[in-house]
Amino acid sequence: MKTKVLTQSDMEQAARILREGGLVGIPTETVYGLGANALDDTAVANIFIAKGRPQDNPLIIHIPEAAWLERYCTDVPDTAWRLAERFWPGPMTMVLPRSALVSDRVTAGLDTVGIRCPGHELCREIIRLAGVPVAAPSGNTSGRPSPTTAAHMMEDMDGKIDAIVDGGPCGVGVESTIIDLTCTPPRLLRPGGITLEQLTEVLGEVEIDPAVRRQMRAGEKPKAPGMAYRHYAPKAPVTVVAGDAGATADYILSHAKGGDGVICFDEYSDRFLGCHVIAVGKFEDKQEQARHIFDALRAFDHTEVSAIWAQCPDSSGIGLAVVNRLSKAAGFHVIEVEP
Ligand code: TXA
Ligand code: MG
Repeated sequence: MKTKVLTQSDMEQAARILREGGLVGIPTETVYGLGANALDDTAVANIFIAKGRPQDNPLIIHIPEAAWLERYCTDVPDTAWRLAERFWPGPMTMVLPRSALVSDRVTAGLDTVGIRCPGHELCREIIRLAGVPVAAPSGNTSGRPSPTTAAHMMEDMDGKIDAIVDGGPCGVGVESTIIDLTCTPPRLLRPGGITLEQLTEVLGEVEIDPAVRRQMRAGEKPKAPGMAYRHYAPKAPVTVVAGDAGATADYILSHAKGGDGVICFDEYSDRFLGCHVIAVGKFEDKQEQARHIFDALRAFDHTEVSAIWAQCPDSSGIGLAVVNRLSKAAGFHVIEVEP
């Protein structure tokens, strides 16, 4: 199959392909998604084939406005409406009981569904024109870093999907925050663009699923099935070095071999002579780091590096999402250094 590259002026065409059961790469504010009509079981099954995704990993459905929530979810609590009002359209997915319209194909048999109204205007317009909810996982091959540009998605999906809409680079750069509202207190399943602090302001208490911060033990299951998989991983093994920024730079400097990869803050980029260095943003600018983290992990796959070392920010704000993605890329191989 030849994958068409579409632009903003081809929205009608993208919407038609979706409505008719095809697969379309769609830009969102978080990462590019691999979209299909969520009400069409064959189209949804094709998402799993194109990504090589395990069948037990459910999909998020995307809607163009909060008013669609009640079509696909039941028993929508007041807290869901409050979150929607505050953070939609935007990088937040809510897990709620599913309605009869949502099939087992989408939810992998769970009785809940993940639902979000994306902040990317072009994306919402395509869904609105399609007139159907769009199931969309991140547009990477399963296990690879999520794509934040159309070109990155084409690396993985060229020839496997009908079309991709190029909506420019993604503004957030890490996937949406997932909050499970089917338990008390609500539980953060995946940190993302909407921070734990922001959620706590609306919800009061929020529990953090253990899979956010550590590897699951044998027999343990995270509430978001996807959090169990090795993920975001470049080909070379990653070591995350956490702690005071100066101390982490010193640690990497004394352990990295010539030719190794280093992901670092801008301020330290000229220290690692002889290494392949990718700076992801200033130490203070965690939004910028989030925007570049997947691009950095992906870029190393075009190099011969045999090990990757990464400085990482503290866990406040969107830092929690950056730490989580880096830790997952490293298989939770995180070294804490003292200042
Ligand atoms: O920002 C995003 O959320 C992007 C863009 C494209 O919207 N999508 C995305 O989808 O990241 P995906 O499939 O790569 O990640 C969805 C995660 C998986 O870990 C999955 O297991 C979890 O959400 N998930 C989906 N439905 C769930 C449910 N009903 N209960 C718990 N976890 C769920
Ligand atoms: Mg994904």
